[in-house]
Amino acid sequence: MTSIIRPRLLINNQIPSQFIRALEPVFDLDYQDIATPVSQEQILSRIRAQPPDAMLLFGKILIDKELLSIAGDKLKMVATTSVGYDHIDVKECQNRGISIGYAPGVIADVVADLAVTLLLVTSKRINEAMRAVRNGEWGTSSDIGWMCGKPLANSTIGIVGLGHIGLAIARRLQPFSIQRILYCGKHEKQFDSENDKKLFQFVQFEELLRLSDFVIIACALNDETRNMFNRKAFEQMKNDAILVNIARGGIIDQDALYDALKNGQIQAAGLDVTVPEPLPTDHPLLTLDNCIIVPHIGGGDLSVRYQMIQISVDNLLNFFSGKPMVHQVNL
Ligand code: DGY
Repeated sequence: MTSIIRPRLLINNQIPSQFIRALEPVFDLDYQDIATPVSQEQILSRIRAQPPDAMLLFGKILIDKELLSIAGDKLKMVATTSVGYDHIDVKECQNRGISIGYAPGVIADVVADLAVTLLLVTSKRINEAMRAVRNGEWGTSSDIGWMCGKPLANSTIGIVGLGHIGLAIARRLQPFSIQRILYCGKHEKQFDSENDKKLFQFVQFEELLRLSDFVIIACALNDETRNMFNRKAFEQMKNDAILVNIARGGIIDQDALYDALKNGQIQAAGLDVTVPEPLPTDHPLLTLDNCIIVPHIGGGDLSVRYQMIQISVDNLLNFFSGKPMVHQVNL
C-alpha cells in the first residue's frame, strides 16, 4: 500500500475549527490550537525543525530573506489572510519561485467605518472632552474656544490612495456636506456621474497637503510611500489639519509626526496603525492629547475575518490542486 505524503502547512494563529477541517484532508498541519500570539522567533524555530511546503499567515510575521532561507526550497506558497502584503519580501519570493496568496475585496467597508470614526473623534476632540468630564473640568472655563472642534461641513478632504478603501471612505464622508475631495495616487480615476466629476479632483501630493483640512492615508505601504509623511510633508500641511492613517504605520515618519503635533504644525492625528505594532506603552505619541491611537482594529469585524480566512484557505486548496488562486499577488 502506498502512503500519500501530504504537503506540510504551518499556521501561525488559532483559527475556527471549520477551517482546520477543510485543510486537514489535504495538508499535514503544523498548527497549535492556542490563543497566545506566536513570535517571529518561535515561527523560525518551527520552520527549522520541519520546513513547511506552505504557510497560512496572520498578523505581522515577516516573510523576509532570513525566514525564506531557513525555509529553503521546500516552501512553495505563502497565504496571508490580509489585504496588505508589505510584511512579505515579494521580490525574494519571486526569486525563489514562491507564490503568494492574499485576501482583498472584503475589508473596505469596515476599514472605512474606522477611518470616519477616527476623523470624527479627533475633529471633535473626544478623548480630551471625555477626560475633562472625568477630571471635573466641565464648567471650569469661560473660554469661548473651550473644547471647540473642527467642522466637516465645507471642508476639503484629501485622500492619499483612492482604491477600494479610499473610495469607501469618500462615500461615507459625502453626506457631511463636505466641499470637495482631493486625491493623489498613481492614476487619475474616471468617474461617470457629473456630481463625482465635480467632487473628486486628482492632484499632486504636495497640493493635497497644502489644501486639505483632513488628510486620510489609504494607500499601500511600498518603497514609494514609506515615510511619505515626513517633516517636509508636515510643513506643507495646514496648521489646523487633521491626519488619519488606517493604512500602514510605515507611511508616516513618527518622530516627525510627534514634532508636528507637539509644535502645532498640524492639529491632530488619528492612527489605527503604527511602527512597531504593538506600539510600546512609553512611546512619545501616547503622551499627546491630540493623537488618538487604536490597536490596528480596522479589519476588526468577525464576519470579515472569517471571509478573509476563507479566501486564504481557498487560495491554499486551489494552489495545491493545480488551480488558480482566488487572489494571487502578481509577482
Ligand atoms: C489588512 O488586511 O491588511 C488589514 O490591515 C487588516 O489587518
